[in-house]
Order: sequence, then C-alpha cells, then structure tokens
Amino acid sequence: MTTTPTVPRVTAVAARAAELTKVYGAGETQVVALDRVSVDFRQGEFTAIMGPSGSGKSTLMHCVAGLDSFSSGSVRIGDTELSTLKDKQLTQLRRDKIGFIFQAFNLLPTLTAMENITLPMDIAGRKADQAWVQKVIDMLGLSGRLKHRPTELSGGQQQRVAVARALASQPEIIFGDEPTGNLDSRSGAEVLGFLRNSVRELGQTVVMVTHDPVAASYADRVIFLADGRIVDEMLRPTADGVLDRMKAFDTKGRTS
Ligand SMILES: Nc1ncnc2c1ncn2[C@@H]1O[C@H](COP(=O)(O)OP(=O)(O)OP(=O)(O)O)[C@@H](O)[C@H]1O
Ligand SMILES: [Mg+2]
Repeated sequence: MTTTPTVPRVTAVAARAAELTKVYGAGETQVVALDRVSVDFRQGEFTAIMGPSGSGKSTLMHCVAGLDSFSSGSVRIGDTELSTLKDKQLTQLRRDKIGFIFQAFNLLPTLTAMENITLPMDIAGRKADQAWVQKVIDMLGLSGRLKHRPTELSGGQQQRVAVARALASQPEIIFGDEPTGNLDSRSGAEVLGFLRNSVRELGQTVVMVTHDPVAASYADRVIFLADGRIVDEMLRPTADGVLDRMKAFDTKGRTS
C-alpha cells in the first residue's frame, strides 16, 4: 500500500548569509559592497542573482563561497560557519563542498578535457565516483571530446567541461558567475538546460549570477540586488517578468 505524505518536505539550507556586510577600502574611498544581506540558498534549488553593475553580485557570491573575506555578519555552508575556519580548513571546505563555474572557464590548457574534469579531485587526493562522472559527461554530451585539449574545443564545449568539473565531485553547492556570459545563445541554453536538469534530477543546488533575463528564467527564483542590498525576489521567474522588473530598476535609477 502506498501512503500519501502528509508532512510537508523540510528543505535543508545549503548555504546561508546572515547580515552579511562587505566593506572595501577605508575613509573616502570606502565602498560598502554588501550591506547586511541575509539570504538562504536551499538544497536542490536554482537561484539567480541579478542587479545592476556594481550592485554586489560577485561580492555576494565570493563571500558565500568562501573565496573572499567579509567585514561582518555570518556565512554558513551546510552546518559550517565560515568565520570559524582557519585558512587551510576553508580551502578544504571549498574543495570538498563547493563547485565553481566562472565566465573565463579556467581550464588548464595542457590537460585534456577529462583531466580537467577530475583535476580538483586529483588535487584533493580523492577518488572520483566513476559512474557519477560518466553520468555527468553523458548528460553534457562530452563523451567524444574527453581526450581533446581546451584549444581543440569550441567555447560551448569548454564551458561544458567547466560545468562537468564543477559537478564531478558532487559538491554541496555550485556557484556560477555569469557562467554563460561568453557563450552564444545556443551553447548558453545547453549549459543552462544542463544546470536545470542537475537541479531537477540530481538535487544539485545552484547559485548563478547573470545579467540575462532568459538565463534567469531557468532558475527557481531570482534575487535582485541594488547598492549592496537585496531589494526584491521573484519565484518561478519568466524572462518577460524579469525584464519588466529590471526596467523598473532602470527607471528608478535614472530619477534618483
Ligand atoms: N577589490 C575591490 N576593491 C574595492 N572595491 C571593490 C572591489 N571589488 C569590488 N568593489 C566594489 O564593490 C562594489 C560591488 O562590486 P561587485 O563586483 O560585487 O559588483 P557586481 O554586481 O558583480 O557588478 P558586475 O555586474 O559589473 O560584475 C562595486 O562598487 C565595486 O566597485
Ligand atoms: Mg560581477
């Protein structure tokens, strides 16, 4: 007999920022890049971060991913509070729990696609789960390209290798800073579709910075930053809805 679950699913938090503040510089050149930002990234959720240039998107991502220090507030990855970690522990946490996809793919030119994909695990001295890596490679359509070096791959293929590298170690959370920024719309759509699938089918958690309303529409929700603060949130975004929201910011921006 099957029973219908009556208890709502409790979703765990993959990463959390609380009252996160980041100040660059001091005195006259001081910039408050993040101003008491509080946000949860739940497990198995795809979040897009949007906002005008300079609004703090990359800073937020870098602070939550443990790539950059912050001035005050707290950041948690899973159950671990980042401020309690020493440098070495932080490096280890980044390596074990976080996947990164950057706009510049950061692939090593002398390594093959396959070697690039497993590099983070090789550095960590961890054995790759072969079945998982194969699944990721198949889903990304990279099977025929594993022996190629980055210069022998198209931009879209290189980005897919970068995505495979981020997913290969089954990180708790994947961060992407404009991961499709350098791609033509077709390759971009492929990468976004794959990220979408990895969230839906594999329960992956993804946080992505983007300027593109179409890219944002692949996410489960969009958070909007302006001047270092979260000013809005949109659930189940559509490209048109996101575009309208951005236009509203522009209008406000011009009158202030
Ligand atoms: N290393 C730094 N030193 C001083 N100020 C910085 C530094 N990095 C970023 N900033 C400032 O912090 C603010 C937020 O920058 P951030 O890079 O997070 O913006 P962003 O939203 O990612 O913008 P973009 O869309 O252009 O990438 C900006 O005003 C920027 O000038
Ligand atoms: Mg940025």
